[in-house]
Amino acid sequence: MSVSVKTEREIELMRKAGHLLEQVHNELAEMIRPGISTLDIDQAGEKLIRKMGCIPNFLNYNGYPASICVSVNEEVVHGIPNRHRILQEGDIVSLDAGLIYKGYHSDAARTHAVGQISPEAQKLIEVTRQSFFEGIKFAKAGHHLYEISAAIGNYAESFGYGVVTDLVGHGIGTHLHEDPQIPNFPQKRRGIRLVPGMTLAIEPMINMGRPDVAWLDDDWTVVTQDDSWSAHYENTVLITEGEPELLTLTDWKQ
Ligand code: MF3
Ligand code: CO
Repeated sequence: MSVSVKTEREIELMRKAGHLLEQVHNELAEMIRPGISTLDIDQAGEKLIRKMGCIPNFLNYNGYPASICVSVNEEVVHGIPNRHRILQEGDIVSLDAGLIYKGYHSDAARTHAVGQISPEAQKLIEVTRQSFFEGIKFAKAGHHLYEISAAIGNYAESFGYGVVTDLVGHGIGTHLHEDPQIPNFPQKRRGIRLVPGMTLAIEPMINMGRPDVAWLDDDWTVVTQDDSWSAHYENTVLITEGEPELLTLTDWKQ
């Protein structure tokens, strides 16, 4: 396994790829409301990405047929946009998007409320987001990778949620998926030592119920086995000597 350390020039390109993707997410967030289809989101996202002069990196990745993964309620990730899938008041919807800028990839996900949602669903979204922030407390040079994993998993589990173990985060750079794999739950080993210049896509996927998932017959859509709802939160993260830099989220504090 080899984990790439980016040069200053590469970091500048990753930063730009990240900032553009943040903009895409912000614009897509604005359009979330009851009555739109999951395909509407995909089409708007692809258009934005192309208008930026970038390439949607998910499109045709291992045959994935769209630019934005749109996953509703019990769908965990990799939902396929469809013009017949209409968002309803009370749903939660996870948008996972990525793009390539001058050869460099970015990847980020957010889960949104559709209109008014239940307090339970709101809590799931918030805890999933916070689990990411618990994880990145350890995303700095000198720490070990699985400290991030443990912090995410322990936090989410403390709410009784199921942490998805079948899918993991990943390194990112000139490829969407690079080493290392980044689990969202505690490991027996401590993992690689983090070094400034590593770029990581950290992406907790958290279920309200059990952690177990299944794949639909489209071979993409991942759903919870118990039909409980699921949330996803992801940013592309740059490791530095100090606080990590969130390339896909410019304005944040713990
Ligand atoms: N963010 C996801 C990931 O990192 C989405 C990629 S899957 C794709 O695995 F096939 F849709 F590209
Ligand atoms: Co990812």
